[in-house]
Amino acid sequence: MQFLTGILLLSAGLVTGSLSSNTTTQSPPSLTFLYTAYVDCLPNIYTSYGPFGNRTTIPIVGGNFTGPRMSGRILDVGADWGLTDVQTGIFSADTRYNLQTDDGANIFIRTSGPSQPSGGLQLRILFETGDARYYWLNNVIAVGVLSPVSTTDDGFTLRIDAWHLDSELAAPRS
Ligand SMILES: *[C@@H]1O[C@H](CO)[C@@H](O)[C@H](O)[C@H]1NC(C)=O
Ligand SMILES: *[C@@H]1O[C@H](CO)[C@@H](O)[C@H](O)[C@H]1NC(C)=O
Ligand SMILES: *[C@@H]1O[C@H](CO)[C@@H](O)[C@H](O)[C@H]1NC(C)=O
Repeated sequence: MQFLTGILLLSAGLVTGSLSSNTTTQSPPSLTFLYTAYVDCLPNIYTSYGPFGNRTTIPIVGGNFTGPRMSGRILDVGADWGLTDVQTGIFSADTRYNLQTDDGANIFIRTSGPSQPSGGLQLRILFETGDARYYWLNNVIAVGVLSPVSTTDDGFTLRIDAWHLDSELAAPRS
């Protein structure tokens, strides 16, 4: 209720312009390290020049992730259905895959985000799990930095370093 009232006050303020004259800003939130992941991929299966650009299908078949509060392996069930903007050549990841923690929790993960001139990508990361021990992941605002590690005939490995915005919501429920 307090939250709703706050939203209503905020909207009213924006409409009347009374907030825009106050230039005081919040200090930026800091980031908490989540993990470093190594993601194993197979070569691109195909690229299709469709209505939104060039869509690729890159299987995600394994790997691992290691961090202070979550570590485990990446299951062989995912893919990146990334899109290349033919106007800029910028590739945007669009992945769905599964993490399994060392203590047995299953976590569905979705990432998206654009390639960078350096050759890596910047990612938005969404987590989804019903496991009480990791339920806090459902409510974090997470980002990642992806960099290529190695390429072979069989595929390639990527590294993703992930963080989330500091938040009260990040505390696991007991
Ligand atoms: C702007 O907002 C801050 C925080 O609410 C307040 O401390 C400050 O006095 C305001 N400044 C002006 C010019 O209204
Ligand atoms: C994770 O995978 C990378 C790349 O394959 C490997 O070098 C590293 O030893 C693995 N880490 C763990 C904890 O298994
Ligand atoms: C998109 O796909 C078309 C057809 O396969 C290809 O000719 C073109 O080079 C691709 N463009 C980019 C930016 O990947």
